Amino acid sequence: MDYKKPKGTKDIFNIESYKYEKTINILKRVSNNFNYEYIETPIFEYTNLFNRIGESSDIVSKEMYTFKDKSNRSLTLRPEGTASATRLAAENNLLNPKSNDHLKLFYIGDMFRYERPQSGRYRQFKQFGVELYSKPSLSSDIEVVLMINSILKEFNISNYKFIINSIGGEESRKKYVDFIKKELGKNVNLLSDDSKVRINSNPLRILDSKNKRDIELVNKLPSIYDFLSPEEKETFDKICKFLDEYNIKYEIDHLLVRGLDYYNDFVFEVVDESNSSRTNSILGGGRYSTLVKDISGFELSSVGFAIGIQRLINLVENNNPNFYNKEMKNLIYIAPLTEKSLLYSFTIRDLLIKEKFNVNFDLNFDMKMKYYFNKMDKLNPGWSILVGDKDSESNLVTVKNNLTKEIKEVKFNELKSTLTNLMRKNNG
Ligand code: HAM
Repeated sequence: MDYKKPKGTKDIFNIESYKYEKTINILKRVSNNFNYEYIETPIFEYTNLFNRIGESSDIVSKEMYTFKDKSNRSLTLRPEGTASATRLAAENNLLNPKSNDHLKLFYIGDMFRYERPQSGRYRQFKQFGVELYSKPSLSSDIEVVLMINSILKEFNISNYKFIINSIGGEESRKKYVDFIKKELGKNVNLLSDDSKVRINSNPLRILDSKNKRDIELVNKLPSIYDFLSPEEKETFDKICKFLDEYNIKYEIDHLLVRGLDYYNDFVFEVVDESNSSRTNSILGGGRYSTLVKDISGFELSSVGFAIGIQRLINLVENNNPNFYNKEMKNLIYIAPLTEKSLLYSFTIRDLLIKEKFNVNFDLNFDMKMKYYFNKMDKLNPGWSILVGDKDSESNLVTVKNNLTKEIKEVKFNELKSTLTNLMRKNNG
């Protein structure tokens, strides 16, 4: 076979697509429950928007899919959703720094990063993201943590914890960056090659280096917390206190800086407790005032997070192996046994679809009975309706409950109420 999918991409089909669909439906439902508004942005934007993420971040410097269109415009496939959501909010005048309103948005879409593919890491991947624009406020930070908590509960996940930190506002961060630049600069020869570059371009990222020599040097540095202003410390302490009172499991890690450069103050990730490696964080987010200011010109703040759908599915399956078992209880199998019964069978299906039942309609007719029985065994639907000539002539429907093996003959115009009652009973 000569045709293969590009490296780092994934075909989603069969049970995998069911998992994606179920996961996305739950995420959409919870977002609606929290009253967040669904948005869609283009898959590509002008490159200068994404440069705002931070020119020294890995995403911008190494991982973007950037190309020129036929009019020589530089475009980039979106590597993440925050910059686009903020552009959407600014361009469509949804942001108002004077207002006390909160703009609550969510999105589900494909992101593109030229990364080294590995388990849970793709070059095209689906992300669910949430962005909450408001004046800076403690309650917004807490809101997103609680939303994440509710989401993970919906997936019956309990084996996770938040890793949190405050990286301060611009001023405190600058003081800290200047300090660590000076300190690490004393031992620049001991740093890893990547960190030797980062000491000038993005010193904060050295804090979460996985290199042994870097880690040794970083461990000798004072914590960023010591450089926060009293107000920043107070806000962070209040968030921690709230999480304690709410019984949310978290760990403070003053080395957590996140891979994107646009964050300030509160940042967090969620990790699977059964898998201690930070490379596989399920989700990440934080506050990003500078990005909002850069894109919109407003002194507004925003806090948000994003989850990789595949990473979420992996986590759900680790915690809950049966979560994605396909629910066939409410599926109805309809088989016209003869060509003559085809028209009547389609009419039965129309009625059931109108009533929002899920129907598997068998397009084969005039088959041996063995075929239909084998099909039912394989499919294992909750209900089956085999339509013979006799049924179509007398406007009857023979419904079999595959769970109890009970067979009921009902009139066509009573089918809806009969099935609704029977299903209610079945679903207990
Ligand atoms: P991020 O940490 O770059 O943050 O990505 C968020 C999540 O997307 C990760 O935790 C992971 O689940 C998933 N992810 C990232 N890269 C890949 C990949 N190559 N393959 C599969 N999954 C991946 C952001 O994107 C920020 N925009 C989050 C945010 C929203 N911050 C504020 N608002």
